[in-house]
Amino acid sequence: MVVGIMGAMPEEIEPILARLQGVQKHEIADNIYYTALYGSLDLVVAYSKIGKVFSALTAATMVEKFGVRKLLFSGVAGAINPELHIGDLIAATKLCQHDLDITAFGHPYGYVPEGKVFVEASPRLLEMAHEAAVKTGVKLRHGVIATGDQFVADEKRKRWIGETFGADALEMEGGAVAVVCDAMKVPFFILRAISDAADMDAGFDFDAFLESSSKKSADFIFAMLDVIDQAQ
Ligand code: ADE
Repeated sequence: MVVGIMGAMPEEIEPILARLQGVQKHEIADNIYYTALYGSLDLVVAYSKIGKVFSALTAATMVEKFGVRKLLFSGVAGAINPELHIGDLIAATKLCQHDLDITAFGHPYGYVPEGKVFVEASPRLLEMAHEAAVKTGVKLRHGVIATGDQFVADEKRKRWIGETFGADALEMEGGAVAVVCDAMKVPFFILRAISDAADMDAGFDFDAFLESSSKKSADFIFAMLDVIDQAQ
């Protein structure tokens, strides 16, 4: 089975590539896709570049050009829920786009006609994540992740996103990957390790913790790959 692993930034996929052997490079649509074998799985790994458009392009390319049948996202996020601290892992149960706004036409935030405010992650992959967490003794939290084309470094904006969508964490790609996978009927899983609290220190914290939190997320992705491989 072909499994896709995406990040948004090089730092998010480097700890994944570092653990693979016989990696091959493919260039498609201005991006590089890395393929390798992991157990019985064919992996496709790429960083999309930041934001909803690039991440949607990468997710769609993984499905269309590489035949990806499960898509895992590994990366970092800003915490909204005060119980989430730097380095904590959160798996999205559902995702939304906090910057999608046609409320002028009477629609709720995050909604456009023929779309939905929340897209749910694959229950089966969430189950497998739980199994991976139990096996490794790693604490994995679950929650709502809000996505938007904004780096949030503002308490007020963060609070609004939390209150409007019931979101626990925010980032810039997961909601777009969710829309693509939902439309293409590909089970997906969005994992994030907290790098900052989306507050006035967020820029500083993000730079300080991007590498260590990316590594935590990547390590968990390998635990999940082992569970997926064994279920084959
Ligand atoms: N990813 C990690 N931290 C973030 C933040 N504060 N805003 C948006 N995306 C993020």
